[in-house]
Amino acid sequence: MSQVLLVSELTANAIRHSDSGRHPCGQITVIIESYGRLLHIEVIDDGSAESTAELEGTANPDFERGRGLWLVDQMAARWGTRHDQSKHAVWFQIVMSCPKCGNEATEAATKANDA
Ligand SMILES: Nc1ncnc2c1ncn2[C@@H]1O[C@H](COP(=O)(O)OP(=O)(O)OP(=O)(O)O)[C@@H](O)[C@H]1O
Ligand SMILES: [Mg+2]
Repeated sequence: MSQVLLVSELTANAIRHSDSGRHPCGQITVIIESYGRLLHIEVIDDGSAESTAELEGTANPDFERGRGLWLVDQMAARWGTRHDQSKHAVWFQIVMSCPKCGNEATEAATKANDA
């Protein structure tokens, strides 16, 4: 289930790269919405003065980091980020396979990165 892997990568990022993991009262919110077979998932953290979620864009096996968002980019139909002064969110959408025929909906083939 790719959505489980991607939520895991994004929550790990929130803990490692944002204030959510730096402060004892840090918070992470995961929102999951489904529209038929389309899943929209957001992982919201407390933001960071140092960085924002940015695709480092490598599949190089020698690189030891930068794989989390690369996986999101490869596996999600669409993904992006949004932030305001206090919160930072990374969202992605996945079209689940049809439980009867196993085919993915055609929207899944349309890659769009709103980052
Ligand atoms: N929630 C976040 N808040 C702030 N910066 C982020 C967040 N998520 C990702 N980033 C930034 O984007 C970069 C790329 O994230 P990515 O998950 O691809 O790599 P990584 O976390 O550094 O390494 P890996 O996931 O391979 O262990 C991070 O190094 C960090 O600088
Ligand atoms: Mg990561």
